[in-house]
Amino acid sequence: MSLKNREYFFKHVLVLLLCGVLAVACTSGKEEIPGEGKSMSIKKEDFGKTGAGEKVDLYTLTNRNNMVVKITNYGAIVTSLPVPGKEGKLADVVLGFDTLKEYEAPHPYFGAIVGRVGNRIAKGKFTLDGVTYTLALNNGNHHLHGGIKGFDKVVWKAEEIKKENEVGIKLSYLSKDGEEGYPGNLAVTIVYSLTNDNELKINYLATTDKPTPVNLTHHSYFNLEGAGEGDVLEHLLTIPADTFAQADEELIPSGELLPVENTPLDFRRPAGIGNRIKEVPGGYDHNYVLNNTGGSLCFAARVEAPRSGRVMEVFTTEPGIQLYTGNFLDGSNKGKGGKVYHKHYGFCLETQHYPDSPNQPGFPSIILRPGQEYRHLTIYKFSLKKN
Ligand code: GLA
Repeated sequence: MSLKNREYFFKHVLVLLLCGVLAVACTSGKEEIPGEGKSMSIKKEDFGKTGAGEKVDLYTLTNRNNMVVKITNYGAIVTSLPVPGKEGKLADVVLGFDTLKEYEAPHPYFGAIVGRVGNRIAKGKFTLDGVTYTLALNNGNHHLHGGIKGFDKVVWKAEEIKKENEVGIKLSYLSKDGEEGYPGNLAVTIVYSLTNDNELKINYLATTDKPTPVNLTHHSYFNLEGAGEGDVLEHLLTIPADTFAQADEELIPSGELLPVENTPLDFRRPAGIGNRIKEVPGGYDHNYVLNNTGGSLCFAARVEAPRSGRVMEVFTTEPGIQLYTGNFLDGSNKGKGGKVYHKHYGFCLETQHYPDSPNQPGFPSIILRPGQEYRHLTIYKFSLKKN
């Protein structure tokens, strides 16, 4: 190569190289900001009127990654949650219905907020400051999930919220003194938010004017392969709990916390939900004692879908989590798009205090007094399994 040619060659190669480096730097810079340019949004649609004539809306929250959650102010219900799987394939991971009418008909708390006290209160009775209260019985001899008309069946007031990194709705409800037998006017606020980190965040707040038990939770049935797409028995589950609240066949705790070690309840290492489910009569419906009692936000569960690679992690400030594997689903609930929900087609991970706490002096108290605030934060975070 002559000197001139060599100069020419180096000049051009250098320019090309520089352009290449710049191009890579620019594109990789862009890739580091997920969803840049896309904006978060909140859409409000008419969801019809309840049988009692109350107007109900459906809110669609969209984050910068185009992840969507739909929530109605009837029952504070999450109706739809499409989450990306492998190759970006979206699947709606929560069980539910297409219409308000179906949510008003009896169903097993699909996607709802349950309260004033989620889970069971034995015989629907408890004594507080020397007074015995009698609650509505709606689960055989027991009180379950707030009674006959719990928070899952009321219309909440809704307000849209937009923040720098999340969109949400704030739902408020005043549960009147004496409702379902509970003492005190309880003012409840639930803030559902969808963050740009693909988290569904639920912030609970309640205050009262008389002492009352409070135990709020969220009752979505998840299937990370998609609602109606088979059972959840092959999902891999982790729950970092050493003990669980022992309960009788009516799911009323004895007050004893037993070790999970050497039992089918041990999910401290990832295990298929179905691996040992046959050893558990009916399936899982157990309250795990999380290893956090200090009220700080802690890791509470992780679930991984084997086929789609979708992962859901749960973080909570609550001391317990109920694992329920849709044992009572029997195909009688026809869900969204006509899909039928059979036994074990969904799992619930309900962050909460232990069942029947008002009657169990050894359990952390769920009594809220005037001047105090009930606060609870739970996060369901969605991602894809890393290979
Ligand atoms: C909870 C309970 C279950 C069942 C379902 C709803 O998870 O623990 O026993 O009542 O709700 O059917």
